[in-house]
Amino acid sequence: MLDTLNPADPGFARDPYPYYARLRTAGPAARVALANGTEAWLVTGYRQAREVLADPRFSNVPPHAAGRPKPDSPAQRARGCLARHMLNTDAPDHTRLRRLTTAAFTPRRVDALRPRIEQLTAELVADVAGELAREGAADLVDAFAFPLPVLVIGEVLGVPAADRADLRTWTYRVGSPADALPAGAVDEAWTRLHAYFTSLIAQKRRIPGDDLFSALIHDAGEGGLDDGELLAMAFLLLFAGYETTMNLLASASLLLLTHPGELAAARQGGPGRWAAVVEEALRHASPLEGTTWRRTTEEVDLGEGVVLPAGASVLVVLAAANRDPEAFAEPDAFRPARYAAAGERAAPHAAFGHGPHFCLGSRLARLEAEIALPMLFGEGSRMPGLSLAADPALLAYRPGLLVRGPRHLPVRPVSAMAPGGTRTG
Ligand code: HEM
Repeated sequence: MLDTLNPADPGFARDPYPYYARLRTAGPAARVALANGTEAWLVTGYRQAREVLADPRFSNVPPHAAGRPKPDSPAQRARGCLARHMLNTDAPDHTRLRRLTTAAFTPRRVDALRPRIEQLTAELVADVAGELAREGAADLVDAFAFPLPVLVIGEVLGVPAADRADLRTWTYRVGSPADALPAGAVDEAWTRLHAYFTSLIAQKRRIPGDDLFSALIHDAGEGGLDDGELLAMAFLLLFAGYETTMNLLASASLLLLTHPGELAAARQGGPGRWAAVVEEALRHASPLEGTTWRRTTEEVDLGEGVVLPAGASVLVVLAAANRDPEAFAEPDAFRPARYAAAGERAAPHAAFGHGPHFCLGSRLARLEAEIALPMLFGEGSRMPGLSLAADPALLAYRPGLLVRGPRHLPVRPVSAMAPGGTRTG
Protein backbone atom coordinates (compact mmCIF):
# COMPACT_ATOMS: atom_id res chain seq x y z
CA MET A 1 0.00 0.00 0.00
CA LEU A 2 1.31 3.43 -0.94
CA ASP A 3 1.67 6.21 1.57
CA THR A 4 -0.97 8.89 0.96
CA LEU A 5 0.16 12.48 1.20
CA ASN A 6 -2.37 15.26 1.68
CA PRO A 7 -0.52 18.58 1.39
CA ALA A 8 -3.71 20.46 2.36
CA ASP A 9 -3.71 18.85 5.83
CA PRO A 10 -3.03 21.77 8.25
CA GLY A 11 -0.89 19.57 10.52
CA PHE A 12 1.29 18.51 7.59
CA ALA A 13 1.55 22.09 6.29
CA ARG A 14 2.73 23.30 9.71
CA ASP A 15 5.32 20.56 10.28
CA PRO A 16 6.04 18.28 7.31
CA TYR A 17 9.55 17.42 8.53
CA PRO A 18 8.87 14.18 10.48
CA TYR A 19 7.06 12.80 7.40
CA TYR A 20 9.95 13.70 5.10
CA ALA A 21 12.48 12.26 7.57
CA ARG A 22 10.60 8.96 7.38
CA LEU A 23 10.59 9.00 3.57
CA ARG A 24 14.32 9.73 3.53
CA THR A 25 15.05 6.44 5.30
CA ALA A 26 13.14 4.57 2.55
CA GLY A 27 15.83 5.19 -0.10
CA PRO A 28 16.77 7.75 -2.77
CA ALA A 29 13.12 8.32 -3.80
CA ALA A 30 9.80 7.26 -2.25
CA ARG A 31 6.62 6.58 -4.20
CA VAL A 32 3.55 8.23 -2.66
CA ALA A 33 -0.11 8.62 -3.55
CA LEU A 34 -1.26 12.24 -3.56
CA ALA A 35 -4.68 13.15 -2.18
CA ASN A 36 -5.78 14.20 -5.72
CA GLY A 37 -5.43 10.58 -6.86
CA THR A 38 -2.13 10.88 -8.72
CA GLU A 39 1.16 9.18 -7.83
CA ALA A 40 4.54 10.81 -7.46
CA TRP A 41 8.12 10.08 -6.43
CA LEU A 42 9.52 12.31 -3.70
CA VAL A 43 13.27 12.90 -3.39
CA THR A 44 14.12 13.96 0.16
CA GLY A 45 17.90 13.40 0.58
CA TYR A 46 20.39 16.25 0.05
CA ARG A 47 22.83 14.38 -2.21
CA GLN A 48 20.04 12.75 -4.21
CA ALA A 49 18.21 16.09 -4.62
CA ARG A 50 21.28 17.68 -6.19
CA GLU A 51 21.88 14.67 -8.42
CA VAL A 52 18.31 14.69 -9.75
CA LEU A 53 18.31 18.47 -10.33
CA ALA A 54 21.49 18.23 -12.41
CA ASP A 55 20.35 15.16 -14.42
CA PRO A 56 18.93 15.93 -17.91
CA ARG A 57 16.79 12.76 -17.77
CA PHE A 58 14.46 14.75 -15.45
CA SER A 59 12.49 17.13 -17.68
CA ASN A 60 10.82 20.41 -16.66
CA VAL A 61 8.39 20.46 -19.58
CA PRO A 62 4.87 19.87 -18.20
CA PRO A 63 3.22 16.73 -19.62
CA HIS A 64 0.57 16.98 -22.35
CA ALA A 65 1.22 20.71 -22.80
CA ALA A 66 0.54 20.37 -26.52
CA GLY A 67 -2.82 18.64 -26.04
CA ARG A 68 -4.36 21.17 -23.64
CA PRO A 69 -7.63 22.77 -24.77
CA LYS A 70 -7.28 26.28 -26.15
CA PRO A 71 -7.90 28.92 -23.48
CA ASP A 72 -11.42 30.27 -23.90
CA SER A 73 -11.44 33.24 -21.55
CA PRO A 74 -9.12 36.21 -21.09
CA ALA A 75 -8.21 34.96 -17.61
CA GLN A 76 -7.25 31.54 -18.96
CA ARG A 77 -5.26 33.21 -21.72
CA ALA A 78 -3.39 35.20 -19.11
CA ARG A 79 -2.69 32.05 -17.10
CA GLY A 80 -1.68 30.24 -20.30
CA CYS A 81 1.05 32.85 -20.83
CA LEU A 82 2.75 31.68 -17.68
CA ALA A 83 3.18 28.21 -19.14
CA ARG A 84 5.71 29.55 -21.65
CA HIS A 85 8.22 30.59 -19.00
CA MET A 86 11.70 29.16 -18.73
CA LEU A 87 11.08 27.04 -15.64
CA ASN A 88 8.82 24.98 -17.92
CA THR A 89 11.51 24.34 -20.53
CA ASP A 90 14.53 22.07 -21.03
CA ALA A 91 17.73 22.64 -23.02
CA PRO A 92 18.16 23.95 -25.68
CA ASP A 93 15.12 26.28 -25.25
CA HIS A 94 15.96 26.80 -21.61
CA THR A 95 19.61 27.55 -22.38
CA ARG A 96 18.62 30.35 -24.76
CA LEU A 97 16.04 31.91 -22.39
CA ARG A 98 18.39 31.61 -19.45
CA ARG A 99 21.32 33.17 -21.33
CA LEU A 100 19.27 36.19 -22.40
CA THR A 101 17.83 36.68 -18.91
CA THR A 102 21.16 36.27 -17.12
CA ALA A 103 22.61 38.94 -19.39
CA ALA A 104 20.03 41.41 -18.01
CA PHE A 105 20.09 40.15 -14.39
CA THR A 106 23.71 41.13 -13.72
CA PRO A 107 25.07 41.43 -10.15
CA ARG A 108 25.73 45.11 -10.87
CA ARG A 109 22.08 45.75 -11.79
CA VAL A 110 20.83 43.82 -8.78
CA ASP A 111 23.20 45.59 -6.38
CA ALA A 112 22.15 48.94 -7.82
CA LEU A 113 18.67 48.28 -6.39
CA ARG A 114 20.01 48.53 -2.80
CA PRO A 115 19.14 52.23 -2.14
CA ARG A 116 15.59 51.77 -3.49
CA ILE A 117 15.05 48.60 -1.47
CA GLU A 118 16.31 50.41 1.64
CA GLN A 119 13.90 53.25 0.99
CA LEU A 120 10.91 50.96 0.34
CA THR A 121 11.76 48.93 3.45
CA ALA A 122 12.07 52.04 5.61
CA GLU A 123 8.64 53.23 4.43
CA LEU A 124 7.04 49.87 5.25
CA VAL A 125 8.78 49.70 8.64
CA ALA A 126 7.38 53.17 9.42
CA ASP A 127 3.89 51.96 8.37
CA VAL A 128 4.12 48.89 10.61
CA ALA A 129 5.45 50.98 13.52
CA GLY A 130 2.50 53.33 13.02
CA GLU A 131 0.03 50.44 12.99
CA LEU A 132 1.58 49.04 16.19
CA ALA A 133 1.30 52.42 17.89
CA ARG A 134 -2.33 52.83 16.82
CA GLU A 135 -3.66 49.29 17.10
CA GLY A 136 -1.24 47.65 19.52
CA ALA A 137 -0.76 44.76 17.06
CA ALA A 138 0.12 44.09 13.42
CA ASP A 139 0.45 41.17 11.02
CA LEU A 140 4.03 41.08 9.73
CA VAL A 141 2.96 38.99 6.72
CA ASP A 142 0.22 41.32 5.44
CA ALA A 143 1.93 44.56 6.44
CA PHE A 144 5.54 43.74 5.55
CA ALA A 145 6.54 40.34 4.15
CA PHE A 146 3.96 40.42 1.32
CA PRO A 147 4.20 44.04 0.13
CA LEU A 148 8.00 44.39 0.18
CA PRO A 149 8.82 41.74 -2.48
CA VAL A 150 5.98 42.96 -4.71
CA LEU A 151 7.31 46.53 -4.50
CA VAL A 152 10.82 45.29 -5.27
CA ILE A 153 9.64 43.32 -8.31
CA GLY A 154 7.95 46.56 -9.35
CA GLU A 155 11.44 48.11 -9.38
CA VAL A 156 12.86 45.18 -11.37
CA LEU A 157 10.07 45.44 -13.95
CA GLY A 158 10.23 49.22 -13.99
CA VAL A 159 6.58 49.64 -12.98
CA PRO A 160 5.90 53.38 -12.42
CA ALA A 161 5.30 54.28 -8.76
CA ALA A 162 1.71 55.29 -9.52
CA ASP A 163 0.89 51.74 -10.70
CA ARG A 164 2.43 49.91 -7.74
CA ALA A 165 -0.79 49.77 -5.71
CA ASP A 166 -2.59 48.06 -8.62
CA LEU A 167 0.25 45.57 -9.04
CA ARG A 168 0.06 44.81 -5.33
CA THR A 169 -3.73 44.28 -5.42
CA TRP A 170 -3.71 42.03 -8.51
CA THR A 171 -0.78 40.00 -7.19
CA TYR A 172 -2.54 39.51 -3.86
CA ARG A 173 -5.70 38.36 -5.65
CA VAL A 174 -4.09 35.82 -7.96
CA GLY A 175 -1.89 34.51 -5.15
CA SER A 176 -4.62 34.16 -2.51
CA PRO A 177 -7.02 31.34 -1.89
CA ALA A 178 -10.09 31.97 -4.05
CA ASP A 179 -12.52 31.40 -1.18
CA ALA A 180 -11.38 34.59 0.55
CA LEU A 181 -12.32 36.74 -2.46
CA PRO A 182 -15.53 37.69 -4.27
CA ALA A 183 -16.30 35.50 -7.31
CA GLY A 184 -14.66 36.82 -10.47
CA ALA A 185 -12.07 38.91 -8.60
CA VAL A 186 -9.28 36.42 -9.26
CA ASP A 187 -10.09 36.11 -12.99
CA GLU A 188 -10.30 39.86 -13.28
CA ALA A 189 -6.91 40.25 -11.61
CA TRP A 190 -5.32 37.78 -14.08
CA THR A 191 -6.81 39.68 -17.02
CA ARG A 192 -5.65 43.01 -15.68
CA LEU A 193 -2.13 41.77 -15.04
CA HIS A 194 -1.98 40.41 -18.58
CA ALA A 195 -3.20 43.69 -20.10
CA TYR A 196 -0.91 45.70 -17.86
CA PHE A 197 2.24 43.75 -18.75
CA THR A 198 1.32 43.86 -22.46
CA SER A 199 1.14 47.63 -22.41
CA LEU A 200 4.22 47.90 -20.16
CA ILE A 201 6.24 46.00 -22.77
CA ALA A 202 4.97 48.25 -25.57
CA GLN A 203 5.72 51.35 -23.52
CA LYS A 204 9.25 50.22 -22.58
CA ARG A 205 9.95 49.39 -26.17
CA ARG A 206 9.17 53.02 -27.04
CA ILE A 207 10.90 54.59 -24.03
CA PRO A 208 13.31 52.18 -22.28
CA GLY A 209 14.03 52.80 -18.58
CA ASP A 210 17.17 51.83 -16.72
CA ASP A 211 15.34 48.90 -15.09
CA LEU A 212 16.20 45.27 -15.61
CA PHE A 213 13.07 44.48 -17.61
CA SER A 214 13.86 47.27 -20.10
CA ALA A 215 17.25 45.61 -20.64
CA LEU A 216 15.47 42.35 -21.48
CA ILE A 217 13.08 44.11 -23.86
CA HIS A 218 15.92 45.94 -25.51
CA ASP A 219 17.73 42.62 -26.08
CA ALA A 220 14.54 41.39 -27.77
CA GLY A 221 15.25 43.82 -30.57
CA GLU A 222 18.47 41.92 -31.21
CA GLY A 223 16.99 38.49 -31.75
CA GLY A 224 16.26 37.92 -28.04
CA LEU A 225 12.94 37.21 -26.34
CA ASP A 226 9.78 37.54 -28.43
CA ASP A 227 6.67 39.30 -27.08
CA GLY A 228 5.08 36.13 -25.69
CA GLU A 229 8.32 35.18 -23.96
CA LEU A 230 8.64 38.67 -22.48
CA LEU A 231 5.11 38.46 -21.12
CA ALA A 232 5.81 35.04 -19.61
CA MET A 233 9.03 36.41 -18.15
CA ALA A 234 7.20 39.31 -16.48
CA PHE A 235 4.77 36.84 -14.88
CA LEU A 236 7.60 34.50 -13.89
CA LEU A 237 9.64 37.26 -12.24
CA LEU A 238 6.57 38.38 -10.34
CA PHE A 239 5.57 34.92 -9.11
CA ALA A 240 9.02 33.42 -8.65
CA GLY A 241 10.09 36.55 -6.81
CA TYR A 242 7.27 37.46 -4.45
CA GLU A 243 5.84 34.34 -2.78
CA THR A 244 9.29 32.90 -2.16
CA THR A 245 10.75 36.08 -0.69
CA MET A 246 7.57 36.75 1.29
CA ASN A 247 7.91 33.33 2.94
CA LEU A 248 11.61 33.88 3.60
CA LEU A 249 10.89 37.20 5.35
CA ALA A 250 7.99 35.71 7.33
CA SER A 251 9.83 32.54 8.37
CA ALA A 252 13.06 34.35 9.24
CA SER A 253 11.07 36.82 11.37
CA LEU A 254 9.32 33.96 13.14
CA LEU A 255 12.65 32.22 13.80
CA LEU A 256 14.13 35.40 15.30
CA LEU A 257 11.03 36.01 17.41
CA THR A 258 11.23 32.49 18.83
CA HIS A 259 15.04 32.41 19.27
CA PRO A 260 15.91 35.50 21.37
CA GLY A 261 19.52 34.36 21.80
CA GLU A 262 20.02 34.28 18.03
CA LEU A 263 18.36 37.69 17.68
CA ALA A 264 20.72 39.14 20.29
CA ALA A 265 23.72 37.57 18.48
CA ALA A 266 22.55 39.10 15.17
CA ARG A 267 22.17 42.53 16.78
CA GLN A 268 25.69 42.37 18.13
CA GLY A 269 27.27 40.65 15.14
CA GLY A 270 26.83 43.19 12.34
CA PRO A 271 26.08 42.58 8.64
CA GLY A 272 27.92 39.24 8.45
CA ARG A 273 25.79 37.80 11.22
CA TRP A 274 22.54 39.01 9.57
CA ALA A 275 23.70 37.35 6.34
CA ALA A 276 24.23 34.12 8.32
CA VAL A 277 20.70 34.44 9.75
CA VAL A 278 19.35 34.71 6.19
CA GLU A 279 21.30 31.63 5.01
CA GLU A 280 20.23 29.56 7.99
CA ALA A 281 16.59 30.68 7.60
CA LEU A 282 16.75 29.60 3.93
CA ARG A 283 18.02 26.20 5.03
CA HIS A 284 15.86 25.69 8.11
CA ALA A 285 12.58 27.06 6.68
CA SER A 286 13.09 26.63 2.92
CA PRO A 287 10.55 29.01 1.34
CA LEU A 288 10.16 26.76 -1.70
CA GLU A 289 9.22 23.45 -0.10
CA GLY A 290 9.64 21.55 -3.36
CA THR A 291 10.97 22.50 -6.76
CA THR A 292 8.63 22.55 -9.74
CA TRP A 293 7.67 19.06 -10.94
CA ARG A 294 10.09 16.99 -12.99
CA ARG A 295 9.22 14.09 -15.29
CA THR A 296 11.53 11.24 -16.22
CA THR A 297 12.16 11.06 -19.97
CA GLU A 298 13.37 7.44 -19.64
CA GLU A 299 13.71 4.77 -16.96
CA VAL A 300 16.13 6.01 -14.27
CA ASP A 301 17.94 3.73 -11.81
CA LEU A 302 18.64 5.79 -8.66
CA GLY A 303 20.39 2.91 -6.87
CA GLU A 304 19.44 0.98 -3.72
CA GLY A 305 16.88 -0.88 -5.82
CA VAL A 306 14.86 2.25 -6.69
CA VAL A 307 14.06 2.41 -10.42
CA LEU A 308 11.80 5.20 -11.68
CA PRO A 309 9.78 4.33 -14.79
CA ALA A 310 9.78 6.63 -17.82
CA GLY A 311 7.13 9.36 -17.47
CA ALA A 312 7.22 9.36 -13.64
CA SER A 313 6.30 12.59 -11.81
CA VAL A 314 9.12 13.56 -9.49
CA LEU A 315 9.25 16.21 -6.80
CA VAL A 316 12.55 17.25 -5.26
CA VAL A 317 11.68 18.34 -1.73
CA LEU A 318 14.17 21.11 -0.96
CA ALA A 319 12.84 21.59 2.58
CA ALA A 320 13.63 17.91 3.28
CA ALA A 321 17.04 17.96 1.56
CA ASN A 322 17.96 20.95 3.74
CA ARG A 323 17.19 18.93 6.89
CA ASP A 324 19.16 15.83 5.83
CA PRO A 325 21.33 14.75 8.80
CA GLU A 326 23.92 13.36 6.37
CA ALA A 327 24.56 16.91 5.13
CA PHE A 328 23.83 19.07 8.21
CA ALA A 329 24.66 18.49 11.88
CA GLU A 330 21.59 18.97 14.12
CA PRO A 331 19.46 19.67 11.03
CA ASP A 332 16.32 20.65 12.95
CA ALA A 333 18.08 23.30 15.03
CA PHE A 334 18.16 26.98 13.93
CA ARG A 335 21.86 27.78 14.23
CA PRO A 336 23.04 30.74 12.08
CA ALA A 337 26.59 30.11 13.38
CA ARG A 338 26.90 27.31 10.83
CA TYR A 339 26.92 29.99 8.10
CA ALA A 340 28.87 32.71 9.94
CA ALA A 341 32.15 33.78 8.30
CA ALA A 342 34.31 32.12 10.92
CA GLY A 343 31.69 29.43 11.44
CA GLU A 344 31.46 25.77 10.75
CA ARG A 345 31.45 25.88 6.93
CA ALA A 346 28.20 23.97 6.61
CA ALA A 347 27.29 22.51 3.22
CA PRO A 348 25.56 25.02 0.93
CA HIS A 349 21.80 24.75 1.40
CA ALA A 350 19.58 23.79 -1.52
CA ALA A 351 16.90 26.45 -0.98
CA PHE A 352 17.62 28.09 -4.35
CA GLY A 353 17.69 24.73 -6.15
CA HIS A 354 20.59 23.30 -8.10
CA GLY A 355 21.66 22.70 -11.68
CA PRO A 356 20.46 24.52 -14.80
CA HIS A 357 17.33 26.02 -13.17
CA PHE A 358 19.20 27.36 -10.10
CA CYS A 359 17.31 30.46 -8.92
CA LEU A 360 18.02 33.49 -11.04
CA GLY A 361 16.92 35.82 -8.26
CA SER A 362 19.03 34.44 -5.39
CA ARG A 363 21.19 37.57 -5.16
CA LEU A 364 18.12 39.81 -5.11
CA ALA A 365 16.34 37.64 -2.51
CA ARG A 366 19.39 37.70 -0.23
CA LEU A 367 19.76 41.45 -0.67
CA GLU A 368 16.12 42.04 0.29
CA ALA A 369 16.32 39.86 3.39
CA GLU A 370 19.69 41.26 4.49
CA ILE A 371 18.21 44.76 4.30
CA ALA A 372 14.80 43.91 5.77
CA LEU A 373 15.72 41.88 8.87
CA PRO A 374 18.05 44.43 10.49
CA MET A 375 15.58 47.22 9.67
CA LEU A 376 12.83 45.26 11.43
CA PHE A 377 14.77 43.79 14.34
CA GLY A 378 18.21 45.44 14.50
CA GLU A 379 19.71 47.97 16.88
CA GLY A 380 18.57 51.41 15.83
CA SER A 381 15.44 50.07 14.10
CA ARG A 382 12.52 52.49 14.09
CA MET A 383 10.41 49.55 15.17
CA PRO A 384 9.72 48.92 18.85
CA GLY A 385 10.93 45.56 20.21
CA LEU A 386 8.49 42.95 18.95
CA SER A 387 6.97 39.88 20.48
CA LEU A 388 4.89 37.19 18.85
CA ALA A 389 1.20 37.60 19.63
CA ALA A 390 0.32 33.94 18.98
CA ASP A 391 1.41 30.47 20.01
CA PRO A 392 4.02 29.51 17.34
CA ALA A 393 2.83 25.90 17.49
CA LEU A 394 -0.66 26.99 16.38
CA LEU A 395 0.24 29.28 13.46
CA ALA A 396 -1.45 28.28 10.19
CA TYR A 397 0.83 27.56 7.20
CA ARG A 398 0.20 27.83 3.48
CA PRO A 399 -1.03 24.48 2.16
CA GLY A 400 0.61 22.65 -0.77
CA LEU A 401 4.01 21.30 -1.67
CA LEU A 402 5.38 24.34 -3.50
CA VAL A 403 5.77 27.24 -1.07
CA ARG A 404 6.06 27.10 2.69
CA GLY A 405 5.59 29.84 5.30
CA PRO A 406 3.17 31.10 7.96
CA ARG A 407 -0.02 32.68 6.60
CA HIS A 408 0.01 35.34 9.32
CA LEU A 409 2.54 36.55 11.85
CA PRO A 410 0.77 38.58 14.55
CA VAL A 411 3.15 40.72 16.58
CA ARG A 412 2.85 43.33 19.32
CA PRO A 413 5.33 45.76 20.84
CA VAL A 414 7.10 44.84 24.03
CA SER A 415 7.13 47.92 26.22
CA ALA A 416 9.85 46.85 28.61
CA MET A 417 12.15 45.09 26.23
CA ALA A 418 13.56 41.78 27.35
CA PRO A 419 17.17 41.04 26.35
CA GLY A 420 17.02 40.42 22.62
CA GLY A 421 13.77 42.37 22.34
CA THR A 422 11.46 39.36 22.18
CA ARG A 423 9.43 37.11 24.35
CA THR A 424 11.64 35.10 26.61
CA GLY A 425 9.45 31.98 26.85
C1 HEM B 1 13.80 33.48 -0.98
C2 HEM B 1 13.49 33.71 -2.23
C3 HEM B 1 13.61 32.72 -3.34
C4 HEM B 1 13.74 31.35 -3.31
C5 HEM B 1 13.80 30.45 -2.09
C6 HEM B 1 13.80 30.90 -4.68
C7 HEM B 1 13.96 29.59 -5.06
C8 HEM B 1 14.04 29.15 -6.37
C9 HEM B 1 14.24 27.77 -6.77
C10 HEM B 1 14.37 26.60 -5.81
C11 HEM B 1 14.25 27.73 -8.11
C12 HEM B 1 14.40 26.48 -8.98
C13 HEM B 1 13.08 25.78 -9.14
C14 HEM B 1 13.18 24.46 -9.86
O1 HEM B 1 14.28 23.95 -10.12
O2 HEM B 1 12.11 23.90 -10.15
C15 HEM B 1 14.07 29.08 -8.60
C16 HEM B 1 14.04 29.44 -9.93
C17 HEM B 1 13.86 30.74 -10.34
N1 HEM B 1 13.79 31.87 -9.55
FE1 HEM B 1 13.87 31.95 -7.55
N2 HEM B 1 13.69 31.98 -5.51
C18 HEM B 1 13.60 33.11 -4.74
C19 HEM B 1 13.51 34.42 -5.18
C20 HEM B 1 13.52 34.81 -6.49
C21 HEM B 1 13.48 36.18 -6.96
C22 HEM B 1 13.46 37.41 -6.05
C23 HEM B 1 13.46 36.12 -8.32
C24 HEM B 1 13.42 37.22 -9.35
C25 HEM B 1 12.99 38.38 -9.20
C26 HEM B 1 13.51 34.73 -8.71
C27 HEM B 1 13.53 34.27 -10.01
C28 HEM B 1 13.63 32.96 -10.38
C29 HEM B 1 13.61 32.51 -11.76
C30 HEM B 1 13.44 33.39 -13.00
C31 HEM B 1 13.76 31.11 -11.75
C32 HEM B 1 13.77 30.18 -12.94
C33 HEM B 1 15.20 29.89 -13.36
C34 HEM B 1 15.30 28.89 -14.49
O3 HEM B 1 14.32 28.22 -14.85
O4 HEM B 1 16.42 28.78 -15.05
N3 HEM B 1 13.55 33.96 -7.57
N4 HEM B 1 13.95 29.94 -7.50
